[in-house]
Amino acid sequence: MRKKVSIIGAGNVGTSTVLYLAEKGVADLVLVDVVEGLPAGKALDVMESGPMRRYEVDVTGSNDFAATAGSDVVVITAGLARKPGMSRTDLLAANSKIVSEVSHKVAHYSPNAALIIVTNPLDIMCYVALESSGLALKKVIGMAGVLDSTRFRHFIADELNVAMEDTAALVLGGHGDTMVPLERYTSVGGVPITELLPRETIDRLVDRTRNGGAEIVKLLKTGSAFYAPSASIAEMVEAILKDSQRILPVAAYLRGEYGIWDVFLGVPARIGANGVEEVLELNLTEEELKGLHRSAEEVRAAVEEWKKMVSSAPDGGPVRDRAKLQFRRPS
Ligand code: NAI
Ligand code: 2OP
Repeated sequence: MRKKVSIIGAGNVGTSTVLYLAEKGVADLVLVDVVEGLPAGKALDVMESGPMRRYEVDVTGSNDFAATAGSDVVVITAGLARKPGMSRTDLLAANSKIVSEVSHKVAHYSPNAALIIVTNPLDIMCYVALESSGLALKKVIGMAGVLDSTRFRHFIADELNVAMEDTAALVLGGHGDTMVPLERYTSVGGVPITELLPRETIDRLVDRTRNGGAEIVKLLKTGSAFYAPSASIAEMVEAILKDSQRILPVAAYLRGEYGIWDVFLGVPARIGANGVEEVLELNLTEEELKGLHRSAEEVRAAVEEWKKMVSSAPDGGPVRDRAKLQFRRPS
C-alpha cells in the first residue's frame, strides 16, 4: 500500500512542501486548509505539472480533515507567519489555538501518524500539539534544527567557496535567538571549520544563522521563508517514511537528556518509522550545555505562559486533560 502524508496549511510552507514531496515521489499527498478552494486549487496546480515532472503520486486538496484519515505522517504548517518586527513569541496566542485544534483533529483521523510541527513559535507549538493530540511523545517532532543547520551550511560554503554538499553543521536548542550552533560539530569535507576560518568569521556566520529567519522576513516584507523550510520538512518526512534511521537535529521531547526535562528542544535524534527513535546525547562543553539550558528555560517560560492562557480561557484549544497541564511530570 502506498504511504500517505497530509500537510495542514496550504500557505507558502505547506504548498512548497507538497511540491518537494511530490518530486520525491514517496507518498500520496493531501493538502488541507480552512480557506475554501485553496488546497484543492493548489493540489490541482501541482498535479498539472505531473506529466512533465513525472509524478507517480496523487496530490489532492480539501477543506475537510476527514481527507487526512490514515496518514502515516502529518505536517502542521497551519497558522500565521511572522511579519517584520514581530517576534516568534508574538505568534503564541494566535497559533497555539490553531495548532491545538488542528492536532486534535489530525490525531482523531490518523491515530498512528507521526506529527511534524512547523508552525511558530516552534518548540512551544510542539508541546501544544503533544497535549492536544494525545499522540505518543516520540511521534511529535518539531522541524527547526534541519533548517537552521542547512542555513549554517550554506553560509559556510559561500564563505569558503566550496560545494555546499561537502559541508556538515549542527545547530541545537530552540528555534529562536537562543539557538546553539555547534562549531565543534561543523566541518567541510570532514575538516572542522575552526581549522578553516578565523574566529571573527565563524562568529559572524553563527550570528547570521541565529538571525537566518529574520533576515528573510526583512527582505520579503510580507511573510517568512518557505523554500528552505519546506526542503527541511521533506527530508524529515522521507526519513520517517523510509525508516531511514537518519541522524537529524529536530525538536524532540526531552526526559532528562542533557539534564533537561519536559520541554521540546532541538537535539540530534535518530529518525525512523516511529518518529524520534532515540535522542543522541553529545559530549557538550560547559559553555555549549549552558547555551542549551538557557534555550530550554526560554521555551519552558513560553510553555508556562501557554498553560496559563489555556487554563483561564476555555476556548484556548482542545487539550487532552487540562488538569495534567499543571502537573505533567516525566514518566
Ligand atoms: P502562510 O500564511 O503562507 O500559510 C499558513 C496557512 O495556514 C494559510 O493558508 C492559512 O489559511 C492556514 N490556516 C490557518 N488556520 C488554519 C486551520 N485552523 N486549519 C488549516 N489551515 C489553517 O504561512 P507560511 O509561510 O506557510 O508559514 C506557516 C507557519 O510556519 C508560520 O507559523 C511560520 O512562522 C512557520 N514557519 C516555521 C518554520 C520553522 O523552521 N519551524 C519555517 C518557516 C515557517
Ligand atoms: C524561519 O526561521 C520563519 O521560523 C521561520 O525562517
